[in-house]
Amino acid sequence: MAENQANSNGPDFALGIASAELADGGMLAGHVGDEQVLLTRIGEQVFAVAALCSHYHGPLAEGLVVGETVRCPWHHACFSLRTGEAIGAPAFSPIDCWSVERRDGKVFVTAKRAVARPASRLSAGSVPDRIVIVGGGAAGFAAAQTLRNEQYRGSIVMLSNDDAAPVDRPNLSKDYLAGTAPEEWIPLKPDDFYAENGIELRLKTNVAAIDAQSREVALADGSKVPYDRLLLATGAEPARLSFPGSDQPHVHTLRSLADCRAIVERAKTARRVVVMGASFIGLEVAASLRERKIEVHVVAPDKRPMERILGPGIGDFVRSLHEEHGVVFHLEDTVSAIDGKRMTLKSGGTIEADFAVMGVGVRPRVELAERAGLVVDRGVVVDAYLETTGPGIFAAGDIARWPDPHSGQPIRVEHWVVAQRQGKTAALNMLGLRQKFVDVPYFWSQHYDIPINYVGHAEKWDELAIDGDIASKDCLLRFKLEGRTLAVASIFRDVASLQEEAAMERVTAAR
Ligand SMILES: Cc1cc2nc3c(=O)[nH]c(=O)nc-3n(C[C@H](O)[C@H](O)[C@H](O)COP(=O)(O)OP(=O)(O)OC[C@H]3O[C@@H](n4cnc5c(N)ncnc54)[C@H](O)[C@@H]3O)c2cc1C
Ligand code: FES
Repeated sequence: MAENQANSNGPDFALGIASAELADGGMLAGHVGDEQVLLTRIGEQVFAVAALCSHYHGPLAEGLVVGETVRCPWHHACFSLRTGEAIGAPAFSPIDCWSVERRDGKVFVTAKRAVARPASRLSAGSVPDRIVIVGGGAAGFAAAQTLRNEQYRGSIVMLSNDDAAPVDRPNLSKDYLAGTAPEEWIPLKPDDFYAENGIELRLKTNVAAIDAQSREVALADGSKVPYDRLLLATGAEPARLSFPGSDQPHVHTLRSLADCRAIVERAKTARRVVVMGASFIGLEVAASLRERKIEVHVVAPDKRPMERILGPGIGDFVRSLHEEHGVVFHLEDTVSAIDGKRMTLKSGGTIEADFAVMGVGVRPRVELAERAGLVVDRGVVVDAYLETTGPGIFAAGDIARWPDPHSGQPIRVEHWVVAQRQGKTAALNMLGLRQKFVDVPYFWSQHYDIPINYVGHAEKWDELAIDGDIASKDCLLRFKLEGRTLAVASIFRDVASLQEEAAMERVTAAR
């Protein structure tokens, strides 16, 4: 959201444009009255939809048309050009559609058009009466919304041990932490959304156990909630380093809105912070706290930030970017003790800091699944339909290890968009609409005004090919193994990143 609101006035489509101005597969941004509109042509079909993405208002004209969809350049949301439907997270709300007329060699955009809701795809016999979702995060929210979008009329109970309704978690280390996002950006939906959509959201509700035989979940207060289908979407919890003084209240971790607010409160009077960890969360926290003018020291055992995922080139770039913004790195070092403000490093140095934030990785919350006897192997094992080894029990998001068709490996990732898309797929499968999860993994990270996009999954690679120049903030890196591109990372190469994603999708579809 620090990402600027896109602004494209362009031609007035109500007055018409020459048909020749719109190439096949091309996009043109313009307006109708005050509203920004995107015009696309696919063969003889011309579509007019809202020009801004319903996620963070990314400029869709700078994205990519794939089939009858348009993909957003910023975080890869996908919309149907025909209906405006948000087909792919992170967007959930549809975009508007307009009617188009073609006459006298010109294309005119006329009125906004209502899109009829498609007939329900559900077949009476196979739809469960009661669906329970454990987790009120990315996957759980996406599942609940999908169930209602599919016109499921049965009961949905969403159990979350958080005290906040589903929030835009990625923002908690970015604009919200930096103090540049208003409160209303944080909830994924207003509070009344859940009641209005018949979703029984029970906050501060800890699920203690699952009885797969009797199809019930047991809550910490001893009560039981029966289910016909169950979705486990318990996410992950931040790892905590253990050393003398590590459990003091001024040593924070960041996962929930409450965690974020506690850091914001601390930051109000702080002059200096130690951030432990030089990966995504740690460095996003560092950037956001620099925006609050706090002196930031990053302590991490790595030689370079983010090297394990993004390679040495981006690692060096990210380090200099943060140094340009005043961050001080203490790499190949760790905090060994905290005594009040005095933070002692393994190397022997000390830093006087008002508080500390640990961003040292997360652990998937798999205990419920383990205790229920489901197969857990570095994550809850699911099949291509995201069903666990317990019949009727599905898993999605940070806890799920699924057979990824791109890498050909079972993988588990911690990506917002993957969790949302898996929540959606799991919901469809709970309704009996058999759909494999085949989406290409995608995540983004933001440091100051620099976004890094990553498509695919490469745990290791033997070749790293760089297009463009990392230092000039204009690059696309291909992580290859035995000649095959497993993943690409990019900075300000949004269309190329989308093209790579579409190419990976085509490979899977062809298999
Ligand atoms: C600060 C931050 C920034 C991030 N930024 C990015 C980013 O920029 N890009 C990106 O791709 N990813 C990002 N991520 C990762 C992303 O947020 C996660 O991958 C995603 O939230 C996972 O979704 P999930 O539904 O699996 O879990 P979560 O969103 O964590 O939701 C899990 C839910 O389960 C509940 N729960 C857990 N156990 C129980 C229980 N026993 N009983 C009841 N409820 C329970 C929790 O309270 C929570 O509501 C970020 C994560 C954090 C913390
Ligand atoms: S702004 Fe479009 S996906 Fe985020």
